[in-house]
Amino acid sequence: MAKEDKSSLGECRAVTITCISEIGWHDTDRMLADIKGSGGPDASQWDKPWQADNAAGSASLVEVEQLDGARHKFLLDCGWNEAYMQRRFEETGVDGMLARGEIEFLFLSHEHLDHLWGLQAVLRHCPELPLRVPPNLTEQALAFIRGERPASTRTDPTPLVRHTGPLLVTPPHTPTVLYPGCVAAAFDLPILLGIRGEQSLYFRVRDQGTVCATGCCHQTVTALADYALAHVASEPTLYGLYGGLHIAPFGPALSPEQEGMIADLRRFGFRKIAANHCTGAPAIERMIALGYPVVRGSGEQGSASSLMVGNGDRVVFD
Ligand SMILES: [Fe+2]
Ligand SMILES: [Fe+2]
Repeated sequence: MAKEDKSSLGECRAVTITCISEIGWHDTDRMLADIKGSGGPDASQWDKPWQADNAAGSASLVEVEQLDGARHKFLLDCGWNEAYMQRRFEETGVDGMLARGEIEFLFLSHEHLDHLWGLQAVLRHCPELPLRVPPNLTEQALAFIRGERPASTRTDPTPLVRHTGPLLVTPPHTPTVLYPGCVAAAFDLPILLGIRGEQSLYFRVRDQGTVCATGCCHQTVTALADYALAHVASEPTLYGLYGGLHIAPFGPALSPEQEGMIADLRRFGFRKIAANHCTGAPAIERMIALGYPVVRGSGEQGSASSLMVGNGDRVVFD
C-alpha cells in the first residue's frame, strides 16, 4: 500500500482502553484439562463440556477521541462467564453505558469462548448493539448470537436474549476504517479449538504514532506489528501495544520460540506496552527484565497480577 493510502486512514487525538477483565479462566490446569479432553485442542469449542465455574472472560472498553473533540466508545470482546461479566460490567460502569446507548458497537476479536460467550451479559442491557465480527465465524457462533444455546449449556432452561442489531463483518486482509484513525484488520488463520480468524485494532494517534490492540493475537504479535508497519503506520516504528499477545498463555516457563518472539518485539520500538490476558505472566516478566516500557496495573478487582494492566485498570495513549 502506498504511503498516501495510509494517511487516508486518518488520525485520532487519543485512545483510552479500560480493562474490564483480562482473566480468561480462573485455574489454568483445569482449563488445560478441558482443552485436552473431549477430542483434544482441535475439537470444536462448541461441543466440549467446559467447567463453567472455571470461566471468567476477556473484555475491554475502548474510548477514541477524535481530532475535533468527538468521543466514541465501544467494547473489545465480551468475556465468557455471564454472571462474572455482569459483575465486571457493573463494577466498571459499563452496564449503565450500554443501557444508555453510549456504547456504539461490540468489536469481537474472535469467537473463542473467553471472548464471545459472555455476550448475554451485554445483550441483556442492549440487544440491538451492532456487532462487528471477523470473517469465517462458525455456524455455532452465528446461532449463539441469534440466541441459541451452545450444546454444553442446553439443559439450562433460561431463554437467551436474541441479538437484534446489525452484524458487520470485517473483510479479511484490508484495513477497515471504523473512525478516522481507528482501523480494524482481520487475519485469516486456523486457531485452536476449531475456529478460524481473528481481527485486531490499530489507532493512528496524532504526533505519537500507531497503537495496536488485540483480543488474543493468535496471528502472533509479530504478524500484528508487521501488518501495522506495512499497512497502517506512517512511521518506521510503533507507539503502543495493548491486550492479549498469546505468547505464554498456559506455561509457567518460556520456550525458546517464545523467548525469541519477545526479543524480536524490540525492533518495533514500542514506547508503551500494556500486555495482559493470554500474554502470560512469564512473558511480561521477561519484557520487564529486557527493559521494555511495560505498563503496570493496580492488582485490584480480581486481577491476576500488578505486573500487568488488569481488571479495572486503564491505559491512555495520547
Ligand atoms: Fe483469550
Ligand atoms: Fe483466543
